[in-house]
Amino acid sequence: MTVEAVINVDLDGPRINRHVYGHFAEHLGRCVYGGLFVGADSDIPNVGGIRLDVVEALRALSIPNLRWPGGCFADEYHWRDGVGPKDERPVMVNTHWGGVEENNHFGTHEFMALCELLGAEPYISGNVGSGTVREMSEWVEYLTRAGDSPMARLRQANGRDQPWPVRFWGLGNEAWGCGGNMTAEHYAQEARRFGTYCRDYGDNRLYKIAAGANGADYAWTETLMKQLGHLGCQHVRSTGYHALSVHYYTITGPTWEEKGSATVFDTGEYYTTMVAAARVEEILAGHAAVMDCYDPNKSVGLVLDEWGTWFDVARGTNPGFLYQQNTLRDALAASVHFDAFHRHADRLVMANIAQTVNVLQAMILTDPDTRAMVRTPTYYVFAMNRDHQDATSLRVDLRTPLPSRPVGDATLTTISMSASRKDGRLLVSLSNLDAADDAEVEIDLRGGTVESVAALILTAGALQDHNTPQAPSAVVPRAYDDVSVTGNRLWVRLPAHSFVTLSGTVS
Ligand code: AHR
Repeated sequence: MTVEAVINVDLDGPRINRHVYGHFAEHLGRCVYGGLFVGADSDIPNVGGIRLDVVEALRALSIPNLRWPGGCFADEYHWRDGVGPKDERPVMVNTHWGGVEENNHFGTHEFMALCELLGAEPYISGNVGSGTVREMSEWVEYLTRAGDSPMARLRQANGRDQPWPVRFWGLGNEAWGCGGNMTAEHYAQEARRFGTYCRDYGDNRLYKIAAGANGADYAWTETLMKQLGHLGCQHVRSTGYHALSVHYYTITGPTWEEKGSATVFDTGEYYTTMVAAARVEEILAGHAAVMDCYDPNKSVGLVLDEWGTWFDVARGTNPGFLYQQNTLRDALAASVHFDAFHRHADRLVMANIAQTVNVLQAMILTDPDTRAMVRTPTYYVFAMNRDHQDATSLRVDLRTPLPSRPVGDATLTTISMSASRKDGRLLVSLSNLDAADDAEVEIDLRGGTVESVAALILTAGALQDHNTPQAPSAVVPRAYDDVSVTGNRLWVRLPAHSFVTLSGTVS
């Protein structure tokens, strides 16, 4: 069966905010320590302790922003513990993640240095749960205020003369859970209160992001939106928040303790995972619909600042470190998310995969023994989709129904597609989620022609295939030629369980 689609390449859609390709690095397991940061004394090449091969790999993805320091850790983090001479920084216990000691050697200055090396904008999650308004307010002052003030002087004494530009500011994290177990009503008041004292200094304009809902908790979103309605949106910039977040993880399995292995799974489990991943469309649409009621002009942003697959930790690893391998299945879960992000470009302003290195659905895995670094299949989806960043989202209309299959009580659509245009180039992303069957897609391009296309494919012999230090290229993109362009007709065969991108110049 051939799927027939139409793309009008000359019709404008919303811009795909590059920040939907954002990342997240928490003080959790080996994400920061041992992943991004090895310490200046390490014999792994580093600058100021930041691991250079990891930076180089991430720079190739043009990662637009990095969220830090949590997650749940953010609401126990006291930023003053992480500035000043390292040997004077106090040690704390990371109670959420493994109960390990945190020496605070990676703090504000180290994070900002990492962002500068990556070319990424910082997105800082402030502490609402166990912190004070004053503490958060002073952190903003420390980072962003030039000239003479107590916090500017402290920053200068710690070696940084000029302030840093910091736009993205999180008002806590998961306030309904680890961020304070608050009700939506209580949190909405807290977010206003904390937000009020996070000031704009000089040219720096904060973009404040309220801690949002857990998955399909649309009532949480409604409460936060009502709060803005009361303020009147014209006052949002000074006293409220500019965006709301939501967290949605791809989690399956009968219980939390049995989420399933990241690498040992059967085809049934694969399809169940794909159903959970594809549900992100419903989650985004649901929150966007609630926001539309209160903000039809879409001035308040939706931020999916935690997403990704969450499986059982790899055998023999610390349960609190959330280390999991990453297979072709994870790559397809990511590609399905990006298609949904592109479709919701009118409301979704940012998304952050959890997490960048060694935790959950990571881009990079580092081996603690060999110290080798491996790019995961998910890494390559980010790489292949990179040119969707800041592109114009194009509608993909269907002339024939998409293939689907029953999965338990659900139905999984097995072809996922999205398209964009930027600088005269068309980029189409296509995923065939069927584990066994190839598919063909024929696209009628209207409003422009594409002379030739360059195609890349990410697939593998088995869904479980993954990259290791011994076999780092088991799942990598390859040039693909089962594609043709004739006039306005673009045709491609999608092998079973594959992700394909097509790009070409539009004239
Ligand atoms: O990403 C791991 C954890 O998941 C984060 O710390 C928390 O916000 C979420 O529950």
